[in-house]
Amino acid sequence: MTVFLQLGPKPDEPHGLSGRDSYPTDVRARLEVDAEKIIARYPHARSALLPLLHLVQSEDGYLTPAGIEFCAEQVGLTSAQVTAVATFYSMYRRTPTGEYLVGVCTNTLCAIMGGDAILEALQDHLGIHAGQTTDDGRVTLEHIECNAACDYAPVVMVNWEFFDNQTPSSARDLVDALRAGNPPVPTRGAPLCPFRQTARTLAGLPEPQDLADARTLGPATVAGLKTAHEKGMVAHGLEGED
Ligand code: FES
Repeated sequence: MTVFLQLGPKPDEPHGLSGRDSYPTDVRARLEVDAEKIIARYPHARSALLPLLHLVQSEDGYLTPAGIEFCAEQVGLTSAQVTAVATFYSMYRRTPTGEYLVGVCTNTLCAIMGGDAILEALQDHLGIHAGQTTDDGRVTLEHIECNAACDYAPVVMVNWEFFDNQTPSSARDLVDALRAGNPPVPTRGAPLCPFRQTARTLAGLPEPQDLADARTLGPATVAGLKTAHEKGMVAHGLEGED
């Protein structure tokens, strides 16, 4: 059987970049201070490209031509090269983002467990399609690929924090709380913060309190490891190692 895969951007993503072409002098100076800290962590400047893209995403809420150009100048690449990297990864956004990016996993396991129904319910409830933002600017809805949280399917992520074992009803309550300005506590991980602040954390510039009460793995994630320990199971070739 022949299977055709359609390549290219997600259907709800535009092909090109939009937004401002340059930063005001003060913004640029501030970004340069942050970029210098980030680049100093790597042996080669271009190795810092991914966190730098998060940095400019924290400024605009998405990638603009100004952000791409800034990154290119910082690491000595062309803007075409930076764009090629940026458009490969789905965490870099090409359209303005609301305060909370709500991603519904619709990959295989989550879809089977209710992810498709959750996305449909949220589109109806919010009156928007995936890829769009509510009029109040609070919620951008999108479908996301597997986030390695299949053990808690179906999963909804808000600014990349996990909300496990969701249902259409619980997901509606979740977006209602976000729109009301009462962000709930994620099932795991760090407390929620607005999208731009999350992007700054991903750039490697977290405020100390951001990660202070991040929580640990859930029991389902480590169930296999626990069973292996209880039964004395060891991977072939690793006998005798801790
Ligand atoms: S399929 Fe949804 S997290 Fe893996």
